[in-house]
Parts: sequence; structure tokens; C-alpha cells
Amino acid sequence: MTSVGTNMDLHTALADAEARYAEANPQSGAAFESARKHMPGGNTRTVLYFPPFPLTLVSGEGCYVTDIDGHRYIDTLSEQTAGLYGHSDPVIEAAVIDALKQGVMLGGPSGREAILADLMCSRFPALDKVRFVNSGTEANLYSVATARAVTGRSALMAFEGSYHGGVLSFGGGASPLNVPFPMVMAPFNDTGRTLDLIEAHAEELAAVIMEPMVGGGGCIRATDEFVRAVREATQRHGIMLIFDEVMTSRLAPGGLHSVLGVTPDLLALGKYLGGGLSFGAFGGRADLMDRFDPTTPDAFVHAGTFNNNVLSMAAGIAGLRDVLTPAESLRLNADGDRLRNSLINLLAQRGVPGTVTGYGSMMMLQLADGDYQRAADTARVPVEARALCQLEMIARGIYVSRRNMFNLSLPMSDTEFDQIVAAFDTFLEEHAQLLRETCNR
Ligand SMILES: Cc1ncc(COP(=O)(O)O)c(C=O)c1O
Repeated sequence: MTSVGTNMDLHTALADAEARYAEANPQSGAAFESARKHMPGGNTRTVLYFPPFPLTLVSGEGCYVTDIDGHRYIDTLSEQTAGLYGHSDPVIEAAVIDALKQGVMLGGPSGREAILADLMCSRFPALDKVRFVNSGTEANLYSVATARAVTGRSALMAFEGSYHGGVLSFGGGASPLNVPFPMVMAPFNDTGRTLDLIEAHAEELAAVIMEPMVGGGGCIRATDEFVRAVREATQRHGIMLIFDEVMTSRLAPGGLHSVLGVTPDLLALGKYLGGGLSFGAFGGRADLMDRFDPTTPDAFVHAGTFNNNVLSMAAGIAGLRDVLTPAESLRLNADGDRLRNSLINLLAQRGVPGTVTGYGSMMMLQLADGDYQRAADTARVPVEARALCQLEMIARGIYVSRRNMFNLSLPMSDTEFDQIVAAFDTFLEEHAQLLRETCNR
């Protein structure tokens, strides 16, 4: 086995990195094999699988995770943005323990859900009223279902490369598991073609659903022109505009829509807003959400055993009220912008083609030249380059997702940013030549 990749091609360098990874992580390998007995691929969450096997993580503290083989990593996967508070925030921990001691499964309103609703509606301009669910997927499904019910139309427009949950997944084509809504697919950030499609399907479209920055699909922000044009066209045709801010609400105190200055009709939320516990929420215009008011005739029914579960509510309140203050949100996202610029500078200094897309505390490495306006642009990056980067960063003590998305968490400080930058620099230094050869297209 060799450890210096200078004269290797990408394929050989990846095989070498995989071999070193397997050797360094025997207990994760064994845990993976044993998990395969009763779970397909040893897995209950596809996004966490990568070959040869994922790390089994046994604990987390601050912005660090520790695996079953005893390695400690700076966590930049950060639970796909849900880990904004890190793994052990003391304020959230105290709130959860306190709620636990007061009893779970109460079977009535506990008062906590009203507090969290107040906090969220004061934060996010698009939220007049809100309802809670258990995941971002559910938040989007209820948003779309609401739009279909209020408009009496059936079709949904979504954008190529977007992800709104396992049954509303549009990366690399639609998933066969998607809910069977009539779909109109449009190219993200292509204003002309999107407006044409809206005009052509205006009579059928109940809603247009959009991540204002495509997250897992590439960390590509909607342009101001695009988002404003879609808002104007949807308004004109009575089509509901749904913003899926399950990830991006972390990008500013009032969510990304507050930065874009565009207010959707409905907003789907989730991830970190549950303070690290299962969570989702959908809300928006009062006249739409009031259709759920059970004190009115013919109200829509929206139930869900765990919608107001006391642990998620308590953790969500503590997080939003006491930890993620507007000042902390601004600080975190400014740190993200600085880190992204540092990584971009390293690519330039090492002469490696590519960039880092994103905004604030969410970013994705793109190891190939391009302007990255559309989610499909990320397909230019060779999958083996993403795999190599991930395994080489893990070997350097930085836990990185296979898609090379880096998400910041509040406990991260300059100490961690410096280590991330240093690890990335040695990765580039070691592999600059082969990355130049294979990613220059
Ligand atoms: C933009 C977006 N919407 C929805 C979801 C689904 O959320 P959940 O995994 O909580 O169902 C995700 C999850 O990654 C997401 O990134």
C-alpha cells in the first residue's frame, strides 16, 4: 500500500485511500457487517452509506464526534445541517432533562408548542401561523397537500436537483418512491424556461416548491432575479409558492427568504429547529393556515401523535430562544463565509480546478471548473474526486460527507476552522496533480 498520491491516477488514489480507511477502522467495518443481517445494506438512512462502509459514531461532544475505533473528528457533516447546536449544548440538554422529568406522552397541549410557535413566527417573516410535524419530509408533504386543497389544482412544480424529503426527491431524476403527484420539472435558476413552464401549466399548478438555496443538491443559491420572477408569476396565477427552508432557515436570523426579500405563501421547516430532536414544521399565510383551525366548520384535519412531543418542543424552545440568538446566527454565517473563502483561496493557490459553492454556514466543494448556477452543474465533479476528498479528510481528523458538503455548528471556533483549512491544504497538496488532470473539464 502506498500513501503518497502524487503520481497516481484518481482511481488508484481512491483505492489506496479506501484501503487505508478500512485498515484504520476495523471496528466500524465489523459493525457494518453485523448491521447487514437485518437491515438492507446495514442501513436505515441511505445518505449515510458510503463505500467501503460508514464510520460507526458512538458519541459526540461540542462539534466533535468519536467513532467506535476511538478516533475523534471535527464534525463538518453536522447531521446534514440539523446539528447546528453541536452535540451537547448545555442549555438544550438542561431543557430536555427538565421536560423528561416532568413526564412524556401527556396527550394534551403542554403549552410548549405555543411558545415555540411564537418564537418561530417572530423570527421568520413568512410565518403568520405554524403547525408542527416530525420531519422535514412531512413538513413539505403537508405544505404541498395544503396548496392542493386550497387551490383545487393537482400539479406541483419542483426544480431539477432539489430534495424535499425521501418521497419528494429530484436529484438525478425523480425517485421511483416519490409521491404520485402530477409533476412539472423546471431548471433551477433558469428564469426564462421556468416562467415559460409556469405559463404553460398555470391552470394545473397548485404549487411551486423551491429550496431558496439548493442544499444537498449543490449549495446553489437562487439568484435574486430568479426568485423574484417566480414569486411574481405564481402570485399572478394564484399558484402557491412554497419555500423549503428545512436547511436554509439557518442562513440568517429570519431564514434565507428574509435575505432574498421574497415571502412565500407557505414555508417548510425542520432540522435544527427541533434543537437536535425529531422535528418539522409548516406554516405561512394566516388565511391558509386558518383552514386548519378545528374550531371552524370543515377545517382540514392534521393530526400526528408526536407533533407536540414535549422533548422536541422543549429542545426547540431552548435552542431558538436562548442559544441561536440573531447575533449568534449572524456570527455563524459570517464564519461560514470566511471558511468558504479560505477554501476557495486554497484551490486557487494549489492550482486545483474547482470552487466552493454556498452561502453562510452551508457550503459544498466542487472539484471541477464551472459557474455552478444549476444543480445539474455539480454532476461535472467526478464521483471519485468527492470520495477521495471525503476519505482523505477523515484520515486527517475531519468528518466530511460523501457529497463534500461542509456545515458549520455553533461550537466551532477558529481552532477548528484552522484545522479544517490545514487538512484541506494537505489533501490538495498531496493530490493536486491528479485533481488537475481529472477535474479540469
Ligand atoms: C431541503 C430539505 N428538505 C427536506 C428534507 C427532509 O427532512 P427530513 O430528513 O427531516 O425528513 C431535507 C433533508 O435533508 C432537506 O435537505
